[in-house]
Amino acid sequence: MEKKWHDQIRTEILGLDTKIPLSDGTKQPYVNLDNAATTPPLFAVVQAVQAFLPWYSSVHRGFGYKSQLATEVYAEARRIALDFFGAPADQYIALFVKNASEGLNKLSKRLPLDKAEVLTTWMEHHSNDLPWRLRKQAQFIELTKDGCLDLADLERKLKMARRAIKLVTVCGASNVTGIINPIQTIAELAQHYGAQLVVDAAQLAPHYPIKMQAGPVPIAFLTLSGHKIYAPFGSGVLIGPRAAFQDGTPDQVGGGTVIAVSRGEIVFAPPPDREEVGTPNLIGVLALAVGLRWLARNNFPRLVAYETKLTKYAYNRLKTVPGLTLYGPPPERYPRVGVISFNLEGIPHGLVAAYLSFEAGIGVRHGCFCARPYVHHLLGLSEAEIISAEKLAKMGKKCLLPGMVRISFGFYNTKTEIDQLVDALKTLRTEEEKIKNRYRIDPATGEYLPIVGNFKAALLRHTKTFFNL
Ligand SMILES: Cc1ncc(COP(=O)(O)O)c(C=O)c1O
Repeated sequence: MEKKWHDQIRTEILGLDTKIPLSDGTKQPYVNLDNAATTPPLFAVVQAVQAFLPWYSSVHRGFGYKSQLATEVYAEARRIALDFFGAPADQYIALFVKNASEGLNKLSKRLPLDKAEVLTTWMEHHSNDLPWRLRKQAQFIELTKDGCLDLADLERKLKMARRAIKLVTVCGASNVTGIINPIQTIAELAQHYGAQLVVDAAQLAPHYPIKMQAGPVPIAFLTLSGHKIYAPFGSGVLIGPRAAFQDGTPDQVGGGTVIAVSRGEIVFAPPPDREEVGTPNLIGVLALAVGLRWLARNNFPRLVAYETKLTKYAYNRLKTVPGLTLYGPPPERYPRVGVISFNLEGIPHGLVAAYLSFEAGIGVRHGCFCARPYVHHLLGLSEAEIISAEKLAKMGKKCLLPGMVRISFGFYNTKTEIDQLVDALKTLRTEEEKIKNRYRIDPATGEYLPIVGNFKAALLRHTKTFFNL
């Protein structure tokens, strides 16, 4: 029954049967264990985009039929986004952005909190760290040894700030360990000390239902990227209280943001228009809304339950690989989305990723995952080690840097794929020396590449085919 359901659900994703070349010249179906970076598209999304493209026209900028239709499609997508996150339209507004990074940057520039302090955490993706470091007075919540948020430190910092902290911003789920943060508890603590909560939902929203008003204290702001929720085409959404965007100067200004402009006066439009400069990415927005709607209509809780089981299965299977270190608390002990990072003793993370890609057809990510302070913490690096790692980073030698290998799942991944991964890692372990000799480090990029063949040239030939259709 479960298998039948899952076989069917896999047919909803585009490209799962795509065969990729291995270094021995054979081809095999790609095993994509890199969904935290980006997910493959849903057929439903691709079909919606294809159906709409003949009708495609400008949003808010014409009175022809197609233009009016485009404007309505854009407005409907906004309603769907608000609805998906349980955000009543009289209180919240959905702003379309390029991705979660842009959503967080917008907030850091736009919120009327000039003198306020912001509390973020040491487990964040750089996109929920750097905007606050550079534009506000940021403090950072400390971590426990195994990489969870130290809630006592959160409370201590809120208390010591004596209500100067106006914003607490945390990831819903980590892109390194998959740890799901206790959003409601954090929202309650924040509110108690006079702060609002921002949730970077880039990793959480695709894998776990999240509502703005799920508990007694609402989430104030939430952002995510379409490309991580089965909807490519370059859009994301930022949801926040309507009132937060009512006044002040938008972070970017120009066409579409005003209702009146004369030689001497500028009057900005009410939100959302004032916050969305220029012609919007209508196709991306349609894709995102169709992706969200697909999850809502396809038993999202069942998909979540499936991914949770798969995560536990993968974590426990990985433990059987000799010399493998896993980071973060076990999923049986702490809730996690399907993101697992690890290292294989004595084998550089870059080489593990290269072997998996070139010889097993398995796509993973390796390195620091745009979350360097968190990865440093999990690896237990000393200050001196961090300084020397950052030196390597400045030279672009990412394979030589301390880092990890990361696997991450979507609802379409299977136990068989996990078994393939574990088998490949065991082979790598037992044939370590032989396999190491099959790779060299590219001096320019620091990447591991097979010694035999010319992978980069073949990749370029493949690339060119997409421009000559
Ligand atoms: C937790 C988290 N936040 C933010 C981002 C940034 O997402 P994007 O690159 O789509 O802007 C990512 C991307 O991996 C992420 O994992």
